[in-house]
Amino acid sequence: MKQPSLCRFSVSMASDLAEQLDEMVKAKGFANRSQALAEMVRDELVSYHGETGSREIAGTVTLVFDHHKRNIQSLLTDIQHDHGDLIISALHVHLDHHTCMEVLAVRGASAAVRKMADRLISAKGVKHGRLTVTTTGKEI
Ligand code: NI
Repeated sequence: MKQPSLCRFSVSMASDLAEQLDEMVKAKGFANRSQALAEMVRDELVSYHGETGSREIAGTVTLVFDHHKRNIQSLLTDIQHDHGDLIISALHVHLDHHTCMEVLAVRGASAAVRKMADRLISAKGVKHGRLTVTTTGKEI
């Protein structure tokens, strides 16, 4: 992959904040402040793009549910079939006698992915669900 050109700019912040940044840079093993700040900016941009607009995002939807609950499995399957274009892969794990966990790898326009995730997470019988958004790696 081609190295992006670098842009230099100075940052001003409260000195106690800068000291805590330096401690974090050291503790997390970043090479320097610039690398840590770039990582923080990238993380914020991923969240920002995941919330707004039609930009393509990748991510995972994690769902935990009791498969004994009436119709839950077929309801979740129906929703997934409605959005086959957004789901790259699906993993089903039987956590215990009652509880299942599904992890869906998803990719698509942020609004479409979010809408599908909301349908799955709000489906009756889902105990807990979460969409985790990341970048497709193309733009950020
Ligand atoms: Ni199961």
